[in-house]
Amino acid sequence: MKILLCSCCLFISFISFAQRIELPTARFITGDDIKYSYPATDDGNWKDIQANIVWDAQGYEKYDGYAWYRFHIVLPASLKTNSLWKDSLRIFLAKIDDVCEVYLNGTKIGKSGSFPEDKEGYITTWNKKQEYHVAISKQYLNWGADNLLAVRVYDGGGAGGIFSGTPYVSMLDLIDGIEINNHSPVEFLSKNKAKKNILLANNFNQRISGTLHYAVIDVENDKAEKHSIPVNISPNGKFTFTIPVTLAERNNLYYEFEEGQTRKKIQLTETIPYLLTPAPSPSPKINGANVFGIRPNAPFLFKIPATGKKPLQYSVENLPAGLKVDAATGIITGSIKTKGDHKMTLIVKNSLGTDKKEFTVKCGDLLALTPPMGWNSWNCWGLSVSDERLKISAQAMIDKGLIDHGWTYMNIDDGWEAETRNEKGEIVSNKKFPDLKKMGDWLHNKGLKFGIYSSPGSKTCGGYLGSYQHELQDAQSYAGWGIDYLKYDWCSYETVYRNEKDTSLAAFIKPYSIMQLALQSQNRDIVYSLCQYGMKDVWKWGATVNGNCWRTTGDIEDSWESLRNIGFNQTSQYAYAGPGRWNDPDMMIVGQVGWGDNLHPTRLTPDEQYTHVSLWCLLSAPLLIGCDLGKLDDFTLNLLTNDEVIAVDQDPLGKQAKQVIKTDTYQVWMKELEDGSKAIGIFNLSDKNDVIRFYWSQLGLTDTHKARDLWRQKDLGIFRSMFATKVPSHGVTLIRIDK
Ligand code: GAL
Repeated sequence: MKILLCSCCLFISFISFAQRIELPTARFITGDDIKYSYPATDDGNWKDIQANIVWDAQGYEKYDGYAWYRFHIVLPASLKTNSLWKDSLRIFLAKIDDVCEVYLNGTKIGKSGSFPEDKEGYITTWNKKQEYHVAISKQYLNWGADNLLAVRVYDGGGAGGIFSGTPYVSMLDLIDGIEINNHSPVEFLSKNKAKKNILLANNFNQRISGTLHYAVIDVENDKAEKHSIPVNISPNGKFTFTIPVTLAERNNLYYEFEEGQTRKKIQLTETIPYLLTPAPSPSPKINGANVFGIRPNAPFLFKIPATGKKPLQYSVENLPAGLKVDAATGIITGSIKTKGDHKMTLIVKNSLGTDKKEFTVKCGDLLALTPPMGWNSWNCWGLSVSDERLKISAQAMIDKGLIDHGWTYMNIDDGWEAETRNEKGEIVSNKKFPDLKKMGDWLHNKGLKFGIYSSPGSKTCGGYLGSYQHELQDAQSYAGWGIDYLKYDWCSYETVYRNEKDTSLAAFIKPYSIMQLALQSQNRDIVYSLCQYGMKDVWKWGATVNGNCWRTTGDIEDSWESLRNIGFNQTSQYAYAGPGRWNDPDMMIVGQVGWGDNLHPTRLTPDEQYTHVSLWCLLSAPLLIGCDLGKLDDFTLNLLTNDEVIAVDQDPLGKQAKQVIKTDTYQVWMKELEDGSKAIGIFNLSDKNDVIRFYWSQLGLTDTHKARDLWRQKDLGIFRSMFATKVPSHGVTLIRIDK
């Protein structure tokens, strides 16, 4: 993309409102030289760059390595004199992908992350807010004259540079010293009562006083109870407060701290987690998909997912020859020799009754006839996944009953590989995974499946060993360990691809087809998940290498921006989804996530999480939970166990939803289902709760429809000509309508 910047913006930094100097553009050069931090260095020949979007979007596509930004800033003396506190200057640099060092008039004022040549080696802080404070007494500040702010950046891969906001300079106010920490979970005391602890931290060396205003808002009924209390926090002190809450279906908590001298405020609103999925009935109920794909003679493993008061008793009518069912666990094992559709009836009984379900095993070439459902280690543990951590989540999958709703795969992502191959050239696991074969057996005995990760390059994205030139050997090892799912991640194959200097599509596809053949030659059904972030429209050719799913985007993270940008942009690929061929908008970001040792609750609000699960189900996306299941809370469990919502994802027709209405504030997505009914998601993308209305005719539908609310599992009645629904900000109404 070419972006035209006027060179006259070069030395202009403007004051957009009273006390903020915005820095929308900078001078820019790739490479590295400490002289670039000196004010005297001439940057006349450098290029202009926008300082709020990554450099890859501005003519430096795929540039990794060092680069410098220089901002020329006039600091008016009024900035200082107009400030009440007159203490320090704030330099806000949004986020910087990946590592940075910041210099003001030649003096280093801060650093974030670690450069490759540093003692600690390369550590990215791409997602960290970059803000630096400089006392106004510093001699090197030039009031009323030019100042040079130089930023040294190192990009270790992917996009690079300053992004996610426009940098600016302003004076600090006392309010900037206050941080509201609302991270402690809401405690539910009884059906109608809860409490929430919040903490105000004063990060400055100065007493701060003001007022804490808070309100509990009953969103549905638009009622609010408002309260105010005086607050006085000693230097670097803390103030904790408990807000009592009387619960309605949806409650918002609003809090605001108003600093006493300036009357400046900081505010936060949060939605108290609210459960929509009704509790499962004690009577037996068979859940999950009604089709299952296998290849002839490959080991068969399928656990009948069913809820109801335990113990349950499982049986199958018309079980094909070669298979047997364990009556106590519902695990079906064996193998089938003959290709074709094998129809059977699954039966589950308990003391309260019996449930039956027609089920078809399609024995042929295609696996993953419905999108794979399970768990992957990446969004929680990142590279610090271990055997023990995997086992805790696997056990929780069973103990918390997720397996009874169809959640099956337990996939290790990057970080399991040893540093070198063994003397036979075979890949082996590192210390964190003492025995993969044993782990596979343990999972299979419980009715779970086992997934693993590799790269067609010599190194994975996390720097571990990849499969390059060992593909067949690796596929054999996987089969030996009982692997059921492979995520195959492009990563360092980029180097091979570039070195081969063949830019044809065939050269690009080649590594995926090599692994396809290696997998196909194993007597084991291994779901093949391509991960190359959607390059070269993978959805158009993923099926030719027998890929069962393919990532369509870069990595997701637990923020509304990331969810919205990924989820609501899955528009062009819908025609390519179908049984055994799924577009994958990346793994789920619910529960405790963290990409490393330190986990935190997802930063998505409850409504954003309802949106996430609804949209992924409409998109027929693989559903891979990316959190520590050992710490699964009631809200996340409830979110992941709604069988009517999951059924939208697991519908055997395998269509992907189409975006049928798109406005600035809301979108409607519609998915065709096998029985002729339709699942419709009505999403409110705005920052306000709203009533969303549309005519059936806008979706190309006939005039009258019966609608059912899938989250609440409740019939809503008959709607003539139009449908209207209240949708919370960033939330969803998910319905199923009859033909
Ligand atoms: C990324 C991939 C992530 C994760 C990671 C492991 O390329 O998109 O999902 O697998 O590599 O290093």
